[in-house]
Amino acid sequence: MKLVGQLTPPGDKSISHRLGLLSLLAQGRCEVGGFSPSADCASTLAAVAALGGGVERVGERVILSGAAGRLRPGQTIDCGNSGTTMRFLMGLLAGAGGRFVLDGDESLRGRPMERVAEPLRRMGARVECAAGGRPPVIIQGGGLRGGQFDLPVASAQLKSALLLAGLQADGPTTVNEPAASRDHTERLLAQWGAQIRRDGLSCTVWPGLLRLPAQIWTPADASAAAFFCCGAAILPGSRLVARGVLLNENRLGWLRVLERMGGRVDVRRQGDDPEPWGDIGVEFSPELRAVEVGAAEIAAIIDEAPILALTASQCHGVSVFRQVGELRVKESDRLAAIIGQLGALGADLRAEGDDLIVRGPTPLRLPDAPLKSFGDHRIAMVLRVAGLLAGGWPRIDDEACMAISHPAFNDDLRRLAGMAS
Ligand code: S3P
Repeated sequence: MKLVGQLTPPGDKSISHRLGLLSLLAQGRCEVGGFSPSADCASTLAAVAALGGGVERVGERVILSGAAGRLRPGQTIDCGNSGTTMRFLMGLLAGAGGRFVLDGDESLRGRPMERVAEPLRRMGARVECAAGGRPPVIIQGGGLRGGQFDLPVASAQLKSALLLAGLQADGPTTVNEPAASRDHTERLLAQWGAQIRRDGLSCTVWPGLLRLPAQIWTPADASAAAFFCCGAAILPGSRLVARGVLLNENRLGWLRVLERMGGRVDVRRQGDDPEPWGDIGVEFSPELRAVEVGAAEIAAIIDEAPILALTASQCHGVSVFRQVGELRVKESDRLAAIIGQLGALGADLRAEGDDLIVRGPTPLRLPDAPLKSFGDHRIAMVLRVAGLLAGGWPRIDDEACMAISHPAFNDDLRRLAGMAS
């Protein structure tokens, strides 16, 4: 089976989340083109509306009216499956007066929030998590003090939460990261009029309100593109172009790893607004080689580690992904999920401490029992691509979860694979 043709992935999920959430601290009205159709971003828009932001969907467009920091207190916000919604809101609501409760689905209730709560407490907010530092989270905000924070993990969600709290503090707030994570928040803050200074892994923000631009466009999701592009590299006869994709380097770690593996890749930059974007062409790459992916690169491949692990299973040699422990606390324990489920298809993967080791190339075969996604969209999607490599369309216990990031994933994959839907 091969992937042939063109695809425009859905609007970028990370940028769409930020457009919605940052509008709560902004004045003005903004028409957003290409807003992500994901269930996660629907959770964000519902939260924004509940908190007093204006949200209007007109076809593919979303019209946001800024709440200028005047948020409706006394709310319980359902963040659904979305860690980004919850962690950003923790920072945002820490600066608002009043009491808020943030909750989510079973998966989100298992994810660590104390890493965000602890620095927010140091800024002066009252933040309580449930047992084990998990949701639901109760926030009584207001009266924040700026400060300096050295993050224990490279996490764009944690960094962004503190920057959004910093916008509402009494002085500058500096966040230092151990390694680079995605920087969409910093870019938007600068574009929307915040006083912000960036210097390597350090970022300082000063208090102030944001101003929405009249219009903005969301490039296509780089992480969604990765499943198709990596799939094309390992499925013989493939030739695929992903169009209009976000080309922010912090989101292209997967492409750089694929290139290092010997992937045949052609990137054509088409524009820079609001971030670099363009087309990514990939064709079947018969001589892929194993690679080592270092700890400093992991934040830039964190969402694409599952599809890169599958790609590594088709490389000659032993690939090592260093320090991927963070995968254990994503929408599922992704380290266990990829080892178990790609293993069920015949791939040779194992964990050594927090490192992931993949030996290849291994032929994949369709399993007798249904595969398990653990309700995790990125696991369901990697299993679909792995299924094509095994020559079919295996049963997956839950694939409705694909709607969390890419509702039309199966339709797009079938079309490119020349299968009737
Ligand atoms: C995201 C950051 C990442 C990523 C998530 C989206 C974001 O999480 O895994 O899917 O939009 O900021 P961490 O920053 O916590 O690693």
